[in-house]
Amino acid sequence: MKITFILKNGEEKTVQFTANQSVLKVAEKNHIPLASACEGFGACGKCHVLIENLQDKLSPISDLEEDTLDKVSGVTMNSRLACQLILNNYLDGLRIKLV
Ligand code: FES
Repeated sequence: MKITFILKNGEEKTVQFTANQSVLKVAEKNHIPLASACEGFGACGKCHVLIENLQDKLSPISDLEEDTLDKVSGVTMNSRLACQLILNNYLDGLRIKLV
């Protein structure tokens, strides 16, 4: 399965993923420059990303993720934390924009 990251400079990188990994882990594994300052515990908000498609297939947002996103600037309806978003088999072709 594949996921595409849209980097801040507009460049797109498509990489493979397997289910049950977080978007942050997939990004790190593939050297995608996605910030994180809390080791993926959902506390820092640095891994904020925008989801461009397949919104109805995403794992539900937790209270922790929602609380952290409340403190992040530039949040939209499509915002998620990459460390809290766990990939599943329905997310093949997911597009994620770095902000
Ligand atoms: S890495 Fe800190 S909130 Fe995701």
